[in-house]
Amino acid sequence: MSNYFLCHNKDIAELQTREFSVETDQGQLELFIVRQDNNVHAYQNHCPHLGIPLNWQPDKFLCLEGIHIQCSTHGALFKVENGYCIVGPCAGKSLTALKLEHRNDDEIWLELTNPINI
Ligand code: FES
Repeated sequence: MSNYFLCHNKDIAELQTREFSVETDQGQLELFIVRQDNNVHAYQNHCPHLGIPLNWQPDKFLCLEGIHIQCSTHGALFKVENGYCIVGPCAGKSLTALKLEHRNDDEIWLELTNPINI
C-alpha cells in the first residue's frame, strides 16, 4: 500500500475539481478530486470511451451547470458521487475511482492499495 499527499481540505471547495499527477511505484498516475456535499471523491483522469484525459483546461472537470463530471472530447456525463456514466458514448461504464484518506483533520491523501491500470 502506498500513500501520497494531495492537498489540504481548504484547497478543494464545494463543487470544485483539482487535478494531480502522482509518481507512483506503478508509473505516473493522472487523477482529479471533486468535492460534492462535503464528500471528496477521486478518479483517474481517464475517460472510459477512448482512454484519454477528461479535461481540456487545467482543473476543470464539471459540466457548465456544475452537476456532473464531463468529458471535454465527446461530452459524456458522469455522476460525481460514483463516476458512473449516465450519458454519452461510454454510458453504463464508470470512471476508475481511487481511495482517499483524510489525515490530521486537514490533509487529503491518495491511498493506493491495489494495482492500477495506468
Ligand atoms: S473520449 Fe470521453 S466521451 Fe469520448
